[in-house]
Order: sequence, then structure tokens, then C-alpha cells
Amino acid sequence: MTDTIGFCQETRPDNCGFVLFGATGDLAGKKILPALFGLCQKKLAPHNFYILLIARTALTRPELESRLTGLLARAGLSAEGDCLADFLGRVEYLRADYTSVDFYRGLAARLDELDAKHGVSKKRLFYLAIPPAAFGTVTDGIRDAGLLADPGDCTCWSRLIIEKPYGASLERACAVDAGLKQGADESQIYRIDHFTGKETVQNVLALRSANSVFDETWNSRCIDHVQITVFEALGLEGRTGFFENLGLARDMMSHLLQLAAITAMDLPASFRDTDFKAEKLRFFGSIPARERAAAAACAVRAQYEGYRREPGVAAGSAAETFIAFRFFVDNDRWRGVPFYVRAGKKTGAKRTKISLVYKKPEHGVFHGTDIGYPNVFTFNIHPEEDMTFSLIAKHPGPKLCFVPRTMRLGYREHAEEAAAPTDYERLLIEAMAGDQTLFLSVFEMQFMWEFLSPLLAAWQADPGGGSLYTYPEGSDGPAQAAALIEKDGRAWL
Ligand SMILES: NC(=O)c1ccc[n+]([C@@H]2O[C@H](COP(=O)([O-])OP(=O)(O)OC[C@H]3O[C@@H](n4cnc5c(N)ncnc54)[C@H](OP(=O)(O)O)[C@@H]3O)[C@@H](O)[C@H]2O)c1
Repeated sequence: MTDTIGFCQETRPDNCGFVLFGATGDLAGKKILPALFGLCQKKLAPHNFYILLIARTALTRPELESRLTGLLARAGLSAEGDCLADFLGRVEYLRADYTSVDFYRGLAARLDELDAKHGVSKKRLFYLAIPPAAFGTVTDGIRDAGLLADPGDCTCWSRLIIEKPYGASLERACAVDAGLKQGADESQIYRIDHFTGKETVQNVLALRSANSVFDETWNSRCIDHVQITVFEALGLEGRTGFFENLGLARDMMSHLLQLAAITAMDLPASFRDTDFKAEKLRFFGSIPARERAAAAACAVRAQYEGYRREPGVAAGSAAETFIAFRFFVDNDRWRGVPFYVRAGKKTGAKRTKISLVYKKPEHGVFHGTDIGYPNVFTFNIHPEEDMTFSLIAKHPGPKLCFVPRTMRLGYREHAEEAAAPTDYERLLIEAMAGDQTLFLSVFEMQFMWEFLSPLLAAWQADPGGGSLYTYPEGSDGPAQAAALIEKDGRAWL
């Protein structure tokens, strides 16, 4: 039973075992293991809890411990003393041979031992931090070894967490999903998009639900357009192979669509996962094939100028590092309001933000005068975490003179707010608690590919050709991205 105290208390998840496949990988080292340590440090991990790390690499216990302390230090976590000892006391390592039946038999026996040692009763979270091509083999192996509990059995459970990008095309994503479903029930599959785990993304919905003063005006009557920007100052960060195969559109589209949905979907009847997902589904359903085709037709893709000189990048690589596009939502709330979206690497300062730009006043004292857009509501999601609302006020002085002002509300003002769970910590807590609200349904995964496929098809018809633009490192992308919004008489903020 999940143990919750009061409305605002943190959920302390069920006692369980956490099994991490691909434990030597980039994602495990940068995100998952620091998050597991963070949960232990913040006392948010279950009371009875163990972590079994699995990979094909042979590691002795001292090598494992030195790896763990090194990666925690690189993640900026003060890993020492009792906290580190407690964490290491929960961690064990198992070398894998994913194609061998004996490996899965050995895994089953090891999990039984760990359950007994840590007081856990067959409640297990399996995190597949391995390449998607290996998902099917691993899920088949754990199912055949009897490690996937019957979803109807309330005395034990098994859950699988899988990572985006869910294949490299709609067909391959569906094949990966079909492979997973051979072993697991949909209710046991937790598809991660770590943006939904961000505090500041959840705040978008919290603010909309609790303050009708904003949400009541978020519709085509008051809003001129919406902008979403996800920029990174960094380049490939050692993930050249991954990036060369996929490109930025496949890597980022799930994040971009989640931000759009959380900003613009109708408010759910409750925050239960079924209500939340039903509203998201309705929102995505309001972007029909003709709107997706129109978004693809105007989409801009580009590469930063030094990309092809990066180590490991092919001389004529057509992998995009920047995308921008515009789409419309065909529902009563948003009909006619353009959503402009852009994302890029090496695009100057890192920033993720969502802005709702209100219409200009058409009547009264400003009639006939273009004063720009006086009201813009912005959620700064990362790394800045605040909300701003710009407006126009009277300038102090004898004349009636107007001046732009900005109201700012910092998201974390107090020390204890800084210690709130990180995105991966939040998602791990929710998965351990069996709450799928923040995870993606199969429909969302499919919709992402339906949105992406026309873009990719258009680009495939012209690989590396005139439609792949370039932009200087540190800039806001190519001139064509600016033209995309400027031809509508607007500008990126
Ligand atoms: N890295 C990120 O920032 C990031 C972000 C979002 C999503 N993802 C997704 O998360 C998953 C893991 O990403 P990653 O960057 O950590 O990947 P990775 O470093 O390429 O691989 C993770 C680990 O998987 C094992 N592995 C490699 N090939 C395998 C195979 N064919 N079969 C089984 N195991 C194999 C390797 O460990 P051993 O050889 O020791 O077994 C490797 O250390 C992928 O699905 C990726 O798309 C990653």
C-alpha cells in the first residue's frame, strides 16, 4: 500500500526492488543513478528498497563502488558519510547475457534473495535504459522467467519503464511496442518523457487549474499566438552516434508536444491519470492530419555551422540540430491561434520557455496606434524557473504616458523548495507508487510519430539539400526560422 499523509504530503512509495538494465550507460550515469541516490538522500525512497544494476560489462564490487561515487560527484551530489553507505548498502550488480535463458533464471533467483534480504515481496520496477532494439529481447526474457507478475494480482507487481524516442519511425515504434506487449500488459508499461517530471511543467497545469483569471483568457478570444522554445547551449555531449542516427526532431518532438498539450489542453476533471490522459488525447485529436501536413510544409530544419566538423559526424551528415514549425489546433478554444515552436542545440543561452501572447488592444485610447503586444504570460521552465507577465502601466509623471512593466514570480523562493524532487526523482517516485499520470500512453507515443512522419518524409525527399539550413553557433537559429514567424507579422520573443 502506498503511504500518503494529507493533501500536500509527499507520497512514500511501496516497498520494492529497482532493477536497472543498461546500468553502465550514459543515461543511467547522468540521470537515473543520481535520481536514485537523491531519493535515498531525501528519504523519499521506499522504507524497504534495493537496487539491482545490470549490464553486460564485468565489474568487481570495488569498481562498481568507485564508478558510483564518481558519477554522483559529477552530478554535483555530496555523496559521503551515512547517506552514501546507506545507498551502497542497497546496491548490487549482476552481469548480463541478455540472450541466455540461464541469465534470466539467475536473475529470478537473485531477485528472490534480494526480496528476502530487504523485506520486499515481489514488487519490482524494471528500467530499460538500453537501446530500444534490445527492449523486446529483455522483456521476453523476464516474462519467460516468470518475472512479470499478473497485473490482476494485488499482492505483487511488476512495472517496466522505457525511454524515448520509442524507435526511429512510426512503424518501428509500433514494432517496439508490440514487442513489449508480448511480455507486458499496457498497465505495466511506463513510457518516460522526463519533461513531464519537471516541477515547472507541472506548475503550468497547477496555475491554470487554481487561477481562473489566467485560464479563462487562454483561448482564441484573447490570445494572439503561443510560442514554445527549447534551446540548449551545448552540442552533442558525447552522444554523436545517437544524434547522427536520429537528429533533433526525433529526439525532441515528444518534449515539444507535451509542453504544448499541458499549456493548451482543456483542464481535466481531476488529476487522476485516466482524466488527465483523456484530455490530452482530446487535445492531440484536435490536430488532424491536414494540420500536421501544414505544419510539415512550413517546418524549418537546420544544422549549426560546426556540426559536420564534430568528431564522429559524417562529412555530409544531414542530421538536423535545429527545428522550427507552426501548427494550428482545430478546436473551439484555439481555432485560428498559431503555435510557434522551435528547438535547437548550440543556440546561445540554455532556455526552455512557453509564452502566451495576448492580442493587442483594438479599441479605446490605443485605437489606430500599434503599441506592440502589451500582455505576454511566460513560463520559464528551465534553467530559469519563474513566471512573468508583461503589461503596460502609466509612467510616473504629469503627462499620460505609458511604460511597459513586467511582473515576475520566482518559482522557488525558499530554501526547502530548492530540495523538491528533480524530474527523474519525481518520475521514479510516481512509477514506484503505480501512478501513470506523468507517463505517456500508447496513443501519445503514436501521435508523436503521426506528427513527425510528414516532416521526416519531406526532409527525406531532400536529404542534405537546400532545405537543410545552417546557423552560427550561439545564435537563435537560421534566418528562415525568423522568417517563419515574421511572415505572419510576429517575432520570436
Ligand atoms: N543518454 C541520454 O541522455 C538519453 C536521453 C533520453 C533517452 N535516452 C534513451 O535511454 C536509453 C539508454 O540510453 P543511453 O544513452 O544510456 O544508451 P547507451 O549508453 O548507448 O547504452 C546503455 C547501455 O546499454 C548497454 N547496451 C548497449 N547496446 C546494447 C544492446 N544491443 N543490448 C543490450 N544492452 C546494450 C550498454 O551497457 P553494457 O554493454 O555494459 O551492457 C550501455 O552502457 C536508450 O533507449 C536511449 O534512447 C537516453
